[in-house]
Amino acid sequence: MRISGKLATRLKELGVELRQGVALAEHTSLAIGGATDELVLARYETISEVMRLLADENIPHRFLGGGTNVLIADGELRWVVLHLPKTQPGMRIEGNAAYVDASADLGATVTFCAKRDLGGMEGLIGVPGSVGGALRMNAGAYGTQIGPHVREVELYRASKGKTETLRGDEIRFDYRHTSFAPEDIMLRVKLELPSKPYQEILAGIRVCNEKRRASQPLNQKSAGCIFKNPPGGSAGRMIDELGLKGHRVGDAMVSDRHANFFVNAGRASCGDMLKLIDDVRERVHSSYGVELENEVIVWRN
Ligand code: EPU
Repeated sequence: MRISGKLATRLKELGVELRQGVALAEHTSLAIGGATDELVLARYETISEVMRLLADENIPHRFLGGGTNVLIADGELRWVVLHLPKTQPGMRIEGNAAYVDASADLGATVTFCAKRDLGGMEGLIGVPGSVGGALRMNAGAYGTQIGPHVREVELYRASKGKTETLRGDEIRFDYRHTSFAPEDIMLRVKLELPSKPYQEILAGIRVCNEKRRASQPLNQKSAGCIFKNPPGGSAGRMIDELGLKGHRVGDAMVSDRHANFFVNAGRASCGDMLKLIDDVRERVHSSYGVELENEVIVWRN
């Protein structure tokens, strides 16, 4: 999808940087995704107006955060992509509260807070992606989830066409799921974190890093776990038990390290990855009677 003419001019007046024909494969951890125009908002405050302009001109759009849990269609995409600026995101501490921009890197946020003796998020250290993405899906690892630390979220509410601040207790945080609408855009968060000496937090971080390094394919292109774990079960263990490590469709491959990580082992297309996902889901279903649910978000064209 291409933006030009009057709309391009109006967007530029709002401080939006227009990048044309960007290959989204460059913005996703799977290195998969077709081409479209990309709008980078210089300031959060313009988001309602930018969204209004796009709606007035019937321009379909999607919001891309860290790109670490998304599988994007190939080819010329029929929607534009919005980003918040990722350079120098705001992070500020007041007592036990951390005020963080949604575009901030989650790991950098954990470290920033740790250095100021605020802990509780050690398990999240190796989770790739942005704070906004972590909020949206209630990211978690090693017994920690972001949800319980959330006190306030400022977001763009697509249904109302304006920004709003929700209290933590107005948001439902479940396992890899929240009550945010899919079109809502996270802008800023206030987290409340327990005081802990930096060295103690660091020790916790090291333990999690080691566990992650021992079991996950960190140096391969993936979107983390492809499926959610079924209640009481482990998707990775089931796929492994079926002997599917290394199983591939084109260059989309079940990791030989952790079976719930599907990796791009070369030049995998979105189609290859979708076929692999369906194939593995069917095999798990026929052997275990369990219907695995995607954790990865799929953006079809
Ligand atoms: N297992 C296997 N073979 C495999 C993978 C796992 O037998 O190929 C077994 C393990 O030995 C273990 C069990 O399955 O007994 C669970 O595995 P693991 O501890 O690796 O955890 P997981 O349930 O596969 C979850 C999260 C991860 C998170 C880790 C650590 C989900 C879908 N996955 O993985 O999150 O990092 O726990 O807390 O909830 C993600 O969400 O993208 C993600 C990577």
